[in-house]
Amino acid sequence: RHHVLSLADFTAAEYDTVLQTAASFQEVLSRRTKKVPTLQGQVVANLFFEPSTRTRSSFELAAKRLSADTLNFAASTSSMTKGETILDTAKTYLAMGTDIMVIRHKEAGVPNAIAAEMDRLGVKVSVLNAGDGQHEHPSQALLDLFTICTLIDPDRPRLELLKDKKIAIVGDILHSRVARSNIWSLTASGAQVHLAAPPTLLPKLFTEYVLESAESAEGQGGRRQEAEVASRKLFSLTPLSPSSPSSPSSPSSPSLSIPNRQLFLHWQLEPALQDADFVMTLRLQKERMTAHLLPSLREYHQMFGITRTKLQLCQPNVKVLHPGPVNRGVEISSELMDDPEFSLIQSQVTSGVAVRMALLYLLGSGKASGI
Ligand code: CP
Repeated sequence: RHHVLSLADFTAAEYDTVLQTAASFQEVLSRRTKKVPTLQGQVVANLFFEPSTRTRSSFELAAKRLSADTLNFAASTSSMTKGETILDTAKTYLAMGTDIMVIRHKEAGVPNAIAAEMDRLGVKVSVLNAGDGQHEHPSQALLDLFTICTLIDPDRPRLELLKDKKIAIVGDILHSRVARSNIWSLTASGAQVHLAAPPTLLPKLFTEYVLESAESAEGQGGRRQEAEVASRKLFSLTPLSPSSPSSPSSPSSPSLSIPNRQLFLHWQLEPALQDADFVMTLRLQKERMTAHLLPSLREYHQMFGITRTKLQLCQPNVKVLHPGPVNRGVEISSELMDDPEFSLIQSQVTSGVAVRMALLYLLGSGKASGI
């Protein structure tokens, strides 16, 4: 692999390589110098066509800690304002000797298109997806995985540590590239992943299938096959099946499971939170919403906002994650966000540097066969 565009086809060995490499860099970052010469002479270009605070800054810092030279691009101050295309922009950075392109764009598939163009040109440039539309955000999911695994075993973070843990992902699943990448990584670990959102903020095909299952106890409805095919396209997962007997299910809170990947859907928060080890809450992405999808923020917070009181349903040592940026008081209460007993939000940001160092190192040092 010389690009990282999606976690859909990541293997367990690849996850473990990233986790272990990131752990080594975490140790480097705890030293006084914090820097290694690994990517000296290489050029990392951060091509951000959409705003970012933590992803762009942590990729830049990660590249600098590896002694690479960095180029930072923001579309609003670039020659794209004069009509230059995305691919011509990428080729301009290629001509300056860029080795790794880190791409963020508001449309799904832009990093893939740039990677395909680089491959067509026959150049050895790696492309890293730093978030594309509603599609994926692989480095975010990898840093979330690292944050959780290092909490369980700081010395040897590895995928198997999450086997049978219960992880709730709550909120605007529909618009969330973070949720899509996390679904791949967390379900690959053997964790039970429970998605909870109002039906309007779950992918439509999921919602249709859940409705179908609720109407027909055996899940034999006429549109089931259609929904399965479409859902496979959406998440490329194995065929859907009716909910397992152990999963909480009632007409008002239907859920389903997918064989080989323990993924459950809920329209209510409580079944997802019940006995959860980790709760990942997501930002309501108002910028991607049409008016009819946007719930009242007060009502949303009441039903799906994570608070200390609602965490009483979870395991006593439950931890809460959020990829940021946060709408304080909407998806999570302000006091919980700042409570170090529960909140891993700052640790996630810190982990981001080591994990992005690992990705840049594995791609830039020719050790990409490891991932
Ligand atoms: N989590 C995340 O992608 O944040 P930024 O948009 O600030 O990069």
